[in-house]
Formats: sequence, C-alpha cells, structure tokens
Amino acid sequence: MNNLLVSKYNVAGPRYTSYPTVPYWNVDTFSLKQWKWSLKQAFDESNDTEGISIYIHLPFCESLCTFCGCHKRITKRHEVETPYIAAVLKEWKLYCDLLEAKPIIKELHLGGGTPTFFSSENLEYLIKGIFRLANKASDCEMSFEGHPNNTTKDHLSTLYNLGFRRVSFGVQDYNETVQKAIHRVQPYEHVKHVTELAREIGFTSVSHDLIFGLPFQNENHVQKTIEKTKILNPDRIAFYSYAHVPWIKGNGQRGFKDADLPTPESKRAQYELGKKALLEAGYIEIGMDHFALPTDGLYQAMIQNTLHRNFMGYTASKTKVMIGLGTSSISDCWYGFSQNVKGIESYYSLVNEGVIPVQKGHILSNEDLIIRKHILNLMCHFKTDWKSSEMCFKALPNVLQRLEELEKDELIKIDDNSIKMTSKGKPFVRNVCMAFDLLLQRKQPEKQLFSMTV
Ligand SMILES: C[S@@+](CC[C@H](N)C(=O)[O-])C[C@H]1O[C@@H](n2cnc3c(N)ncnc32)[C@H](O)[C@@H]1O
Ligand code: SF4
Repeated sequence: MNNLLVSKYNVAGPRYTSYPTVPYWNVDTFSLKQWKWSLKQAFDESNDTEGISIYIHLPFCESLCTFCGCHKRITKRHEVETPYIAAVLKEWKLYCDLLEAKPIIKELHLGGGTPTFFSSENLEYLIKGIFRLANKASDCEMSFEGHPNNTTKDHLSTLYNLGFRRVSFGVQDYNETVQKAIHRVQPYEHVKHVTELAREIGFTSVSHDLIFGLPFQNENHVQKTIEKTKILNPDRIAFYSYAHVPWIKGNGQRGFKDADLPTPESKRAQYELGKKALLEAGYIEIGMDHFALPTDGLYQAMIQNTLHRNFMGYTASKTKVMIGLGTSSISDCWYGFSQNVKGIESYYSLVNEGVIPVQKGHILSNEDLIIRKHILNLMCHFKTDWKSSEMCFKALPNVLQRLEELEKDELIKIDDNSIKMTSKGKPFVRNVCMAFDLLLQRKQPEKQLFSMTV
C-alpha cells in the first residue's frame, strides 16, 4: 500500500449505509406526516412483489466494550426485557395499522446492543408477535447478532425453530492485550463453542465480525486472529475498520488513549495483511469490509448483481421498504428515511401515546435519489454509470472534475460515461463515493462527524 495515497485520502468520511448520510438529513423540512405518506406509497408499490425488511434494535448489553460505536444501554437488570419487547410490539402494531395490508416479511434482523441479552422465551414472544400481524415470505431471511459470551444452545435452537438461519458473532480480535484494552475478554474457546453449536443446530450461515485498527493491535495480532478464524471457517466475515468516534455522546469509547491506536499506515497494513490472508483462505471480497465463502448467499448475490446495502450492512435481498423498530432504529422507504428516538424512556412514552416514535428523518429530492443510486452502485459493485438520462443530475460536471483527480491516482478508470474502481482503488471506495456526495461538498462539517476513511 502506497503511504502517499494513505496520507492523501485518509480523511473523515461517511460509511454510506445511506445517502444522504444521517448528519445531512434535512430534518427541518421533515415531518412525521410526510414520512407516513412516503412509507405507505413505497409499501403499496412493493409489498406484493418484493415484501419488506424488518430490523429490530435490542439495545441492552451486560457490560460495556470500550471500542463500541453502537447505540446501547448497559445493565445487568433483566427485568428490562419484558417492557421493551411490549413496546416494540406496540410500535409494530402502529405501523401495521398505517399500512393497512398485511406486510410480507422478506428479511428480519435482530441487532443491537446484544439480542442474546434477552432470554430465548422473550425472543420467541417477540418474533411470534411480529408474525401475528404479518406473512412470512417463503424465502424469508432471518438473522441475528449473537455475543459469543452469552449465546446459549437454547437461544440458537429457539431462534432456529422460528426460522433463523444466519447468525453473526462479534469476535473483533483474539489477542489478550487488545481484548483487555477494549474491555471485552472473550477466549477463542467461547467462539469455537458457539460457532460449532450453531452449525450443529442447522444454521447455514455463520458470520464472524473482526476489526482492525483497535488499540494496541498490530499486524501480528491480525494474522493470529485470522489463523484462528480460518480453523472455524465462518461462511462470512465482516472485517471492519475500527471507527474511532469518541465525540458521539455517551458511546463509551474510552479506556485507552489515542496514542494507543495504531498509526494510519499501520492500520492500513493490518487491513492489507488481513485481506490477503482471507483471500488465500478462499474468501471472496464483497463490497466494503465483507468477505464470504463462494458457497454463501452473499457471494451468490454479488455475482448475480443483486447485492444491496442498507443500514444493516450488505444483504442479498433488496426491498424498497425497511422498517426499523426499537430505540434509535432507522427506517428506509427509498423515498425517505426516519430514525427513532434514542432514549428508552422517550421511546416508551411515544409508543404508549400511540405515536410512531420517530425523532427525525429526511425525504429525498430527485437529486438525492440519483446520487443515492450511484453511491449504492459503488458500494455494492465498485462501478457506476450515467449512460441513461435517469442517472444524470445537474451538478454531474463538478462530480466529474473530482473523479478526474481520483483517476490520476489510478483509483478509478473513467470510460464512456462510466467509472470502475481499480483494485488499487477499492480500499478507498468511501473516498470515491464522497466525490458524488454533493451535500458534503456543499457544506463541509464544522466539527468531525465521521470516522477516518483509512
Ligand atoms: C452490536 S455488535 C454485535 C453483537 C454483540 N453486541 C457483540 O458485541 O457481540 C455489532 C458489531 O459492530 C462492530 N462494531 C461496533 N463498534 C465498532 C466500531 N467502533 N468500529 C468498527 N466496528 C464496530 C463490531 O464488530 C460488533 O461485533
Ligand atoms: S460490542 Fe456488542 S456487547 Fe459490546 S457494548 Fe457494543 S453492542 Fe454491547
């Protein structure tokens, strides 16, 4: 990896799980009424043909991992489970009343926080409650995030019996010094145990989350972590760049100093080494941060050009409507986004009043919609084009100017109204997307909002 490129392109930049990115949502012109209208329109257009996706945020964790950027509440009091599930089911009922027709669920994901903080009985009650008001698509994909330290056989078999076939386990890194620094001591044996258990029970896709760029982490640790991972042979691997975002209120990123983090060059070297080791082990790189065995559905989606990216990350099934339930969840109806309130107490009081608990959102303009497609194409397929008039927008010439600079550095190839990323350019996909991000170009943030791209 060329260090000059790293220093030139290592800037704060979005991870583009959406366009516009959350800090650029036009919250002043957004209203709950508009959101409901856009959602209903998208639902009527697509429920019968492609169904909808559901994301349920389960925010509780028993202990704080100090690297974590997710929205969570730390508690050991399991009495919180029942009221939370009751509130999520109330929120779901509010949506079903609005949509009028029975939703067909094509994809359902439990994320967090830690879904396995909840007992298997409570998770079963939740899922059955969701399907009481909906139909399950015959090819419905159901997945959950499991913490290796608290996922039990009971969790796995209960969720399997409910139709879950995919599970992702948070591993991060196996080195003890790194684990201590991030306050997440988790021996290899735990991960081995839950991975084997999931397979025995019948899960067809087991995924491991790994991270590079953590405090005290070096290339040797990444090498050793991947060697151990290879033995367990997960179907998918998310190989995330550590997002250092300590300015986000209450996210708990502390317990180590900035000086304990690897330099950008070392972080990039960790990525390069990890990627090489994963490719040698037979994994194929899917979009940004993801690797899959050729037998996994994500790889099949990539070769069939059906790979999609949303707030849950990469997915093989694209639906126009994704409803996010629970605190902080984001919903997407292609024409608009909304995000729920983050506080548990305000979430409860809104659903109890019969109000969809949206805090903010954005309705996309025509320009936003076109740029959204380009960014999605880049993030999923590393290429995009504006051969059809539908993919052109007024400010395209300004974008082209920025793309020419990226071409000079051999990160992309511009050809016949299209661009394709080179293999040298792929690690910089966020930077290429930024060339299209007109909202970011028009108003640079006054303080840092995003993690660094390298
Ligand atoms: C909600 S957690 C997974 C479920 C469960 N809570 C656990 O920790 O095992 C989702 C994943 O997000 C990733 N993640 C969290 N914070 C991150 C950060 N700051 N940078 C990069 N990845 C992060 C981790 O890989 C983590 O496994
Ligand atoms: S990494 Fe998982 S367990 Fe740790 S604080 Fe974040 S959500 Fe909770």
